Amino acid sequence: MNIFFELHSDLPREAPGDMASTAKALSLIPKLPKNPQILDIGCGPGMQTLALAKITKGQITAIDNHQPFLDELQQRAAQENLSSYIITQNCSMFSLDFQPESFDLIWSEGAIYIMGFQEGLQSWHHFLKTGGAIAVSELSWLVTNPPEEPLNFWKNAYPAMKNITENITIIQNLGYNYINSFTLPESSWWDDYYTPLERRINNLRQKYQGNEEANAVLDEEQREIELYRKYSDSYGYVFYLMQK
Ligand SMILES: C[S@@+](CC[C@H](N)C(=O)[O-])C[C@H]1O[C@@H](n2cnc3c(N)ncnc32)[C@H](O)[C@@H]1O
Repeated sequence: MNIFFELHSDLPREAPGDMASTAKALSLIPKLPKNPQILDIGCGPGMQTLALAKITKGQITAIDNHQPFLDELQQRAAQENLSSYIITQNCSMFSLDFQPESFDLIWSEGAIYIMGFQEGLQSWHHFLKTGGAIAVSELSWLVTNPPEEPLNFWKNAYPAMKNITENITIIQNLGYNYINSFTLPESSWWDDYYTPLERRINNLRQKYQGNEEANAVLDEEQREIELYRKYSDSYGYVFYLMQK
């Protein structure tokens, strides 16, 4: 198995986040209709999809291009009696094939960076009903002058990373009404993401003893975790909410 997927299977989530933050973002959206049509883009194993289903009782189309994550989401939904609210679809966010204005709400936690913050918001606009809302979480600088170490790391890993003000300007320039934004708590990085990921890295170290290539991947993941441990004041995940 590809070591990346070995690292990233069967984790509670695939990006920082938590149920309370998903619920908070939802509560900030004005006038969501009863049983809304929701698109969850890059849903992964779907912790946020399940939260959306529980709270809204809407119809959620959850898309991802990695089938094992969709299978896991379906299993979790069945365990929680939420299957009737969730349809999974294996497709790429780069080539979504929905009718224009299909959704009351477009959701994406930790996944819009794959297209780029601006590019994603620009391309998804088309699928949103007038008056509909978008909620995305995005890795963002929390300070105007970040220290050199995280700056260099993220310049390489995510060169398009912006600060909160810059992202709000992008939202407004695209013609959305900016609603609100908030930074996810540090616990949302650790509890369901970095802590289980770090445990997995340690297990894989034993399995891949002496395998330089595998250990280089594990080192890189560990480095990202150490960096956050040191510089969590400088960057974080931020939820951005906007309306068409
Ligand atoms: C960082 S994870 C976030 C997953 C989930 N939203 C969460 O918070 O746990 C990004 C997700 O995007 C998916 N992904 C990557 N490229 C994609 C693409 N082109 N189209 C759709 N999904 C994609 C990955 O499989 C992964 O599940």
